[in-house]
This record gives sequence, C-alpha cells and structure tokens, in this order.
Amino acid sequence: MKLMEEILTRPQTLKGRNVLTWLDFSQEEVSQILANTQNLKANPHNSMLNGKTLGMIFEKSSTRTRVSFEVGMTQMGGHAVFLNPRDIQVGRGETIVDTAKVLSRYVDALMYRTTSNKKLTELAEHATVPVINGLCDKYHPCQALADIFTILELKGSLAGVKVVYLGDGNNVAHSLMILSAMMGMEVVVSAPKGFEPDPEIVKKAEEAAKKNKGSVKIENDPVAAVQDADIVYTDVWASMGQEEEAEERHKALNGYQVNDELLKHAKEDVHFMHCLPAHRGEEVTASVIDGPKSVVFDQAENRLHVQKAILLSVI
Ligand code: CP
Ligand code: NVA
Repeated sequence: MKLMEEILTRPQTLKGRNVLTWLDFSQEEVSQILANTQNLKANPHNSMLNGKTLGMIFEKSSTRTRVSFEVGMTQMGGHAVFLNPRDIQVGRGETIVDTAKVLSRYVDALMYRTTSNKKLTELAEHATVPVINGLCDKYHPCQALADIFTILELKGSLAGVKVVYLGDGNNVAHSLMILSAMMGMEVVVSAPKGFEPDPEIVKKAEEAAKKNKGSVKIENDPVAAVQDADIVYTDVWASMGQEEEAEERHKALNGYQVNDELLKHAKEDVHFMHCLPAHRGEEVTASVIDGPKSVVFDQAENRLHVQKAILLSVI
C-alpha cells in the first residue's frame, strides 16, 4: 500500500459508519483513513468539525483514549463531552437503548469504552449517530489503527511486515491481528495454552488474511514466534477488570516477557510496541520499553492522529 499525499478526502462510504471492529471495513477504506491520518499529522489544525460534538462514555479508566479524542475534536474546531456512567443516569438504571436515543439527539458521534461488546453493539444499534469503540472486552480498534499507522511510518509499507504479539490473547491482540491480516501482513500471536486469542476471531482474521495476501499464525513457543520479527508487541497480562486473576495470569504468562534475550531472535532492526499502560518487570523489561528499539510513545501520539481521521470519516 502506498500513502496518498494529496488533499484529504472523505469518502461517502465511510460517512455515518460505526467503528466497532475493522472486520466491518475493507482494506481500501482503512487505507483511505491511513492516508488522511498522514495529512492530519502534518496539518493538525482545521475547522472541519466546527460546531460538532463527540459524546464519550467511559466505563473504565483511560489516559490516552480520553485525552486524544478530546484534543482531536478541539484541533478540528469541535468539542468533546466526557460522560462518566457514575454521573449520568445509565449508572442508575436508565437503559443503553434510551441513552443511545437521547444522546443521538444532542451529539454528532459517540465514543464508548465498555466492559462488554454486547453493550457496545446495543448502543450502536439504537444510536442514530456513529459509534466508535474506545475499547471493549473483545476489541480495541483505535489502538490497532494507531499501531498500523506507526508501523507504516517506520517501514514505509505494510505488506509482508512480520508482527509478533506475545502474551495474553486479549482485546488488543484481537484488533492487531485482524488489522494486520487485512493489511497483508504476517501476524503471529504467541500465548500459552488457555490464553490464545478467541478462535472465532482468529478464523475471521484468517479469512481477512486470505483475501489480502496476509497470514495469521498462533504459536505457543515465544522463541519460535519472534524469529525474524520486524515488530514485537505486548500488552499487560491482566487487563482492566481482571485484577483478581492477576497472580494466576502472571504465573501462566511468565515465559512470554519481552526482554533483551528474547529480542535477540528477532530481526536486528526490530521495533518494540506496547499499547500502554505498561507494567515494567512483568510483560516487558524496563531495558526494552525504555530502550532504543521502543516506539511506544510514537504509538501513543498516533492515537490522536488516527482518531482524528476516523472522526472526519464518520461524522
Ligand atoms: N492504550 C490505551 O487505550 O490507553 P488508555 O487506557 O490510557 O486509554
Ligand atoms: N488489554 C488492556 C488494554 C488497555 C489499553 C485492557 O483491556 O485493560
């Protein structure tokens, strides 16, 4: 895929669309959003969302997602409203359906970070404005798009790039796997037995890979997985809401730590990625995440740029 350097374009096929998972999009549509991202990164301020408002519902904590969406709206002349379920009526039993219908009368798009993909789908079904997934139990599409954009910046193209995700087969792993497969990349997920990604999502990623000349592999052995990797990626071993399982998870995932020894098996110019927040000494050593191979803060910055491109596409 080549980056488009021309003027920013907003294809009509993307207008009004929900962004719940990249499985609902074509490679061309994603490429268009990536091209717009590059333009927006070079020219951060515009007035294309003048007078528009994004409603953001957060059932879980957030630093990057919250701030980058809010700043993104501001930089394009719009506004974002932060909605904590504890403060709005949904926390007192008002239904997701009614919330979707009411908020749609006020705002131009909704972003939802939720504990459950089912609730996300319900909100999207009943909202009359586009709904963007700001992380759920299954997916984290905005993160994956920032990751892919970061890889594109580093490597110049995506096809054939080998990305290896190590550790818990979670929401971040799912979205990275789907989007990498869709973009024609070679994606390997390395997790211990019982922590592999959801087999149904793996199947869908495999179908996407087949269509786009990519590949998907699940490999239990971390050393075998990272052979010749261009990118090595990891995420926390206990996600938000899994705090009580932390000890058991740490035991199971212990052999999947990204450290200097493991990276010796990857390509010489390998880059280390992490969606953040990170736990140094657990899924990654400080020497790796704070070392020269790490691009984690570029990934975090790129959340802002890709999300602006998403907002411009769907609003
Ligand atoms: N990576 C990410 O989504 O970070 P936050 O939880 O801080 O939003
Ligand atoms: N897998 C992590 C990602 C946080 C951005 C979680 O769901 O907590």
